[in-house]
Amino acid sequence: MSLKSTLEIDIVKATTSKIDSVDFENLLFGNIFTDHMLVCDFKEGAWQKPIIKPYEPFMIDPSAKVFHYGQAIFEGMKAYKDENDDVWLFRPDENFTRFNKSAVRMAMPEVPEDIFIDGLKTILEIEKEWVKKGLGNTLYIRPFMIAIGSGVIAQPSTQYRFMIILSPAKSYYSGEVKVIIAEHYSRAANGGIGAAKAAGNYSAQFYPTKLANAKGFQQIIWTDDATHTKLEEAGTMNVFFRINDTLYTAPTSERILDGVTRKSLIDLAKRDGLNVEVRSVLVEELVNAAKDGSLKEIFGAGTAAVVSPIVAFSYQGTEYQLPKVENSFAQQLKEDLTKIQYKLAEDTFGWTVKV
Ligand code: COI
Repeated sequence: MSLKSTLEIDIVKATTSKIDSVDFENLLFGNIFTDHMLVCDFKEGAWQKPIIKPYEPFMIDPSAKVFHYGQAIFEGMKAYKDENDDVWLFRPDENFTRFNKSAVRMAMPEVPEDIFIDGLKTILEIEKEWVKKGLGNTLYIRPFMIAIGSGVIAQPSTQYRFMIILSPAKSYYSGEVKVIIAEHYSRAANGGIGAAKAAGNYSAQFYPTKLANAKGFQQIIWTDDATHTKLEEAGTMNVFFRINDTLYTAPTSERILDGVTRKSLIDLAKRDGLNVEVRSVLVEELVNAAKDGSLKEIFGAGTAAVVSPIVAFSYQGTEYQLPKVENSFAQQLKEDLTKIQYKLAEDTFGWTVKV
């Protein structure tokens, strides 16, 4: 994909920068934003000229559809800095394509590639000092779109705002990750919006996750809504299970997000000669494997989470601990992935794109 831009963007630079006040070693995920944001409105059936301007709050009509009907979508991406101070994106075409799939599902207008990709390139050029060198340092990119048209009639809006905001980030999870397997609540259903990166998919998880948090678990592994017997995804990340020396992950579906990290790990695992199977794993299989010792690893995979090992899971009130393994697939795949992202290894897949 070419990132050469012919897009016209208005640019209003911030007069001061917050960068010197930021403690880049102690970042709470998604808490601090850079000096600028990109804003592009859709009205009267057309996308307007984008503007990059100082990061600031803005006003929207209280009756805007985003507030009442949750017509909102987003993406999660990251920028990485290599040893030569060049800034890189990882598979931005995948995020762009998925964003527009989400837009279609939520009856929102698709964002043109130049606004999304060239707009991103332009704001990253302005904010490149915010991308710090060194493994683990990233600039998290949050493109999103909200329905800003006013009126509480339950119909799609006619006006939208596409924005890109940027947040310096290290890890998403600060400690060990323990999960509960969902037995009652569901994240998504067939025919629903589970495959879209729609805001409501995330807020719908807040309450069951709060219940899980109160029991000492960080996340829920969602199961299929119809039978609660198949393991699906963890909401903030897709999940992989290693039983003996085979790695399993659920196929994407109408209920499961087509994660960019997930698909990259599958390709890396195959390249490394690991045995990977994309198929549904039953809760029963997982519990049996935990009991007989063949369950070696569970880990999450996502842009924010990168590769996050899961140390224990709970099902029907019983907690199962994961063993400590010498040759961790999670560790190996995380290294494979991050070496490509930070340009420390050859990118034979052509996934990285220079800003
Ligand atoms: C991401 O990994 O980028 C996501 O969008 C997940 C979000 C809950 C942080």
